[in-house]
Amino acid sequence: MRILIGSDHGGLSLKHTLSERLRSQGHEVVDMGTDSTASCDYPDYAVLVARAVAAGEGDFGLLVCGTGQGMAMSANRVPGVRAAVVSDVFSAKATRQHNDANVLCLGERVIGGGLAGEIVDAFLGASFDGGRHVGRLEKMARLESR
Ligand code: RB5
Repeated sequence: MRILIGSDHGGLSLKHTLSERLRSQGHEVVDMGTDSTASCDYPDYAVLVARAVAAGEGDFGLLVCGTGQGMAMSANRVPGVRAAVVSDVFSAKATRQHNDANVLCLGERVIGGGLAGEIVDAFLGASFDGGRHVGRLEKMARLESR
């Protein structure tokens, strides 16, 4: 898969850990920044990844900040993006199956690297269930134009 990744300074270390892990699994990883520990603003990187995912430039986005929350709030303002903050394996799988999430947001100050790796595996390994969930996503998409 082609995974588009980004972080702010608060998520830089975990992003690098996950990036190496994804590459070792054979995925193509496109790192859209930041590449520095200097303090920066998470919306600047969230929008780069979110717009690229919405444009179909990758299979999924992965955003890391201190909590994952600011990244998700920012990414979800881009039409076509369904970004989820995840801190457990069950939710990682469920948000793909039920919500067809296309951007995974993680918090470096919330979870460790081991759990983060398992969450990424569960997210990438799950598929959208379709069926009764399709209409719900269509309702969600209609909210973008209000
Ligand atoms: C940066 O200090 C921190 O606010 C940011 O990484 C993130 O947690 C925001 O949601």
